[in-house]
Amino acid sequence: CFTRHYKFSVVMKNVTRLCSTKPIVTVNGKFPGPTLYAREDDNVLVRVVNHVSYNVTIHWHGVRQLRTGWADGPAYITQCPIQPGQSYVYNFTLTDQRGTLLWHAHITWLRSTVHGAIVILPKRGVPYPFPKPDDEKIIILGEWWKADTEAVLNQSVQSGLPPNISDAHTINGKTGPTPNCSSPGYTLHVERGRSYLLRIINAAVNDELFFKIAGHNLTIVETDASYTKPFSTDTIFIGPGQTTNAIITVDKAIGKYAIAISPFMDTVIPVDNSTTIGLLRYNGTLSSSPTFLPIIPAVNATPTEFSFIDSLRSLNSDQYPAKVPLTVDHSLLLTISVGVNLCPTCVNGSRLVAAFNNVTFDMPTTDLLEAHYYNVKGVYTDDFPAFPAMPFNYTGSPPTNIQTTNGTRLYRVKYNSTVQVVLQGTSIIAPENHPTHLHGYDFYAVGKGLGNFDPENDLKGFNLVDPVERNTIGVPTAGWTAIRFRADNPGVWFLHCHLEVHTTWGLKMAFIVEDGDGPDQSLLPPPPDLPSC
Ligand code: C2O
Repeated sequence: CFTRHYKFSVVMKNVTRLCSTKPIVTVNGKFPGPTLYAREDDNVLVRVVNHVSYNVTIHWHGVRQLRTGWADGPAYITQCPIQPGQSYVYNFTLTDQRGTLLWHAHITWLRSTVHGAIVILPKRGVPYPFPKPDDEKIIILGEWWKADTEAVLNQSVQSGLPPNISDAHTINGKTGPTPNCSSPGYTLHVERGRSYLLRIINAAVNDELFFKIAGHNLTIVETDASYTKPFSTDTIFIGPGQTTNAIITVDKAIGKYAIAISPFMDTVIPVDNSTTIGLLRYNGTLSSSPTFLPIIPAVNATPTEFSFIDSLRSLNSDQYPAKVPLTVDHSLLLTISVGVNLCPTCVNGSRLVAAFNNVTFDMPTTDLLEAHYYNVKGVYTDDFPAFPAMPFNYTGSPPTNIQTTNGTRLYRVKYNSTVQVVLQGTSIIAPENHPTHLHGYDFYAVGKGLGNFDPENDLKGFNLVDPVERNTIGVPTAGWTAIRFRADNPGVWFLHCHLEVHTTWGLKMAFIVEDGDGPDQSLLPPPPDLPSC
């Protein structure tokens, strides 16, 4: 197999957006960071050298990390951070995945500027399962604050209040055009008559987004590095951590067509409500130069979101069969809540917290994977509750006491067992859509619905034939989503809301997947340069 070497130097860089300049943390001085290209089955070695004053880790979001949890990246889950002046080599193999993913920092809010694309091409000689586009383009969506994002985070943690919302959304690092400081915004130059594969990534910190291009439909062919049944749409819905590959055929009149990204927030929580416009610009002379604009979905356009999500199916071909677990060894129902706990030092005497099954996850001070591997006691417990302690009408009135309990509690499963997790949105404080991400696995999204999950009836409606395979899935406002996976990757695997503000508030937990008895069924030993805490 082929080995690819990358060097990621983490360095500060001054960047100007919205007419103001600030130093940001970057990889190799680039924002967004460099693209990691590889083929399926390649071994990838990324040497990360930390030249900044913050602790850093990098996560390869969606890379399965089969038996190589040491290279997964979430701080204090699978590794201690890379401290200033230190380095670490992430060593992993891309197994049975092809498409687009992203990498990002996985500590505090550094991922706001430390992120980039991962492109996994099929094995040499293996074609795409769709007509080969003439060209490929990477489109990374993000969020920009004029203030320093670590300061935004720290202020929120100290006050117990929500963090300030971002000032703009970005397309490949650029805000919309700001002519008074001669910043033109993002332009995608295209040749009429050609087709392009757009590799679209949502690297935003807290915002789920709609993506549109005026006058053009997009054919969806892959999400989260798994092929889908192709379908045509004029609007893409994409949550933080999700990726979508879409083909566009550029066959309209030579002109300028707006690329629009706008937020989705199906509730009354303040959100960065700005639309960012980039341009799809046909090469050639324009007869006149109006820019065609698409109709921007309303911020609360749930039907638009649902119609995109409900159209997603895995390709499920002979070559790429869906392997949905048909039986379930571990069945969990995890409620998602955002609430308040008492906090004497906070501004209102309380702080916002979030929880699965009422457990607000406490980050340990040493990493869980080492604690598991070396059998160190006292770092975590493995008693995470599979069901809510006090069932209630999750989408009706919340219980009177909504205080959560804190703990570093994990859920343990045997190697190769099958797991079903129903993620249930609740009405506690903020019943919003939560893009929930599982590390170490692609799972099948077998069902979703509004209201309270009803095991009697809702199970009957599950799609066990061709459900979409993802690593990050939305849990609808006042509704639920069910996922299934086979626990064939030993290690400690993080599950969390990919809205960074909710991760900060404790909406996270982890699975321990034990080693199997057979050869190739155990976690590999830690690399010698694994950082220590
Ligand atoms: Cu993309 Cu745990 O994160």
